[in-house]
Amino acid sequence: MIDLERIRGDFPILDRIVNGHKLVYFDNAATTQKPIQVINAIVDYYKFHNSNVHRGVHTLSQEATELYESAHEEAAKFIGAEGLEEIVFVKNTTEAINLVAYSLGMWSLEPGDEVVITAMDHHSNIVPWHLMSELKGFKLRIVRVKQDGTLDLEDLADKVSSKTRIVAVPHVSNVLGVVNDVKSIAKIAHEVDALILVDGAQSVPHMPIDVRDLDIDFLAFSGHKMLGPTGIGVLYGRRDILGSMRPFLGGGDMISEVHSDVETGKCTITYNAPPWRFEAGTPNIAGAVGLAEAIRYLRNIGMENVLLHERDLVEYTLRRMEELGKTHVYGPRDPGKRLGVVSFNVEGLDSHETAMMLDSYGIMVRSGLHCAQPLHETLSIQTTTRASFYIYNTREEVDRFIEALKEIEMVA
Ligand SMILES: Cc1ncc(COP(=O)(O)O)c(C=O)c1O
Repeated sequence: MIDLERIRGDFPILDRIVNGHKLVYFDNAATTQKPIQVINAIVDYYKFHNSNVHRGVHTLSQEATELYESAHEEAAKFIGAEGLEEIVFVKNTTEAINLVAYSLGMWSLEPGDEVVITAMDHHSNIVPWHLMSELKGFKLRIVRVKQDGTLDLEDLADKVSSKTRIVAVPHVSNVLGVVNDVKSIAKIAHEVDALILVDGAQSVPHMPIDVRDLDIDFLAFSGHKMLGPTGIGVLYGRRDILGSMRPFLGGGDMISEVHSDVETGKCTITYNAPPWRFEAGTPNIAGAVGLAEAIRYLRNIGMENVLLHERDLVEYTLRRMEELGKTHVYGPRDPGKRLGVVSFNVEGLDSHETAMMLDSYGIMVRSGLHCAQPLHETLSIQTTTRASFYIYNTREEVDRFIEALKEIEMVA
């Protein structure tokens, strides 16, 4: 299925000793580690090809442009998009969502319109819509989350109406790992001619994705959560929709022509075609090169295998956590309903205390609200400690995590 030994050998950081223990990295929902292939691709780019893109006729600029554009093609293939014109490179998921919120919000949303989000969302799919609703006077509708941590699809169907212009939902919860049925949600949105945006920050790195099969209009995801470098992310947008949208950021490279009249102060500007219309200024070229290498690395493993491996780890972790007496796990028990994220609390300990104690065993987890305060409020939890897995994690690491938690429970 997955050659774990070979994979682990590609990640130099996994050899680190932290606090006297071999590193166990269980903070993959925040960001993943980078294989040597990705690190080398970035070094190689700077050593041999560094130049600006789309601007020079010289050899280096052409090489950089070719690398940058082919990275768009890699990303397109990875998610089943039609081609490069549907792939906008941005900084991260946050910027991708902001791009849609600002571009559509500024120019086409009005009082009387509604945008539907959920109580499961990461703040990055709440705050941009909130800001834009304040500016433009449209209304936000927020879909309920049930007590088992799954999305209330009946409430979603109730809240989507003829007033709905956009439905923006997370594919996978970054707190509970719950996988939402975005194909059905897309159908509900499209029945009222609304657009659907999917926050794929926690799905694209962990499972096969086909935007055409899901029939979604936008998909946002981050390179750094899928073995790539920080500072590069993707907004997928359906070709016809991107083609009809106005830009979010203005500057070089996103225009076809700019004329300015010194007498009247008027500018006449025509915009470039997507994706370049949405990529103003010098982009993160090295980041794109690193992301393309990360995608090739994942494709070599096979996303089905990535999914199976994580499902196995979650199932094993949930089973072993039943041995713990004072640790409460949140979200559905059925490992089939969730991906590789397990949030929990140890009785008597604050989530940060638990994370710091695990750190003393060399185990890195995240603690706090995970940028999802509404979800914590829905479940009436202050904060949680979160373990999240990726392709290089093993059952032996889960064993170390459980043994550490047993010792922590004794002193809690
Ligand atoms: C579900 C979800 N959406 C959005 C984000 C934001 O990602 P980024 O910080 O890369 O923009 C995250 C990050 O943790 C996330 O988990």
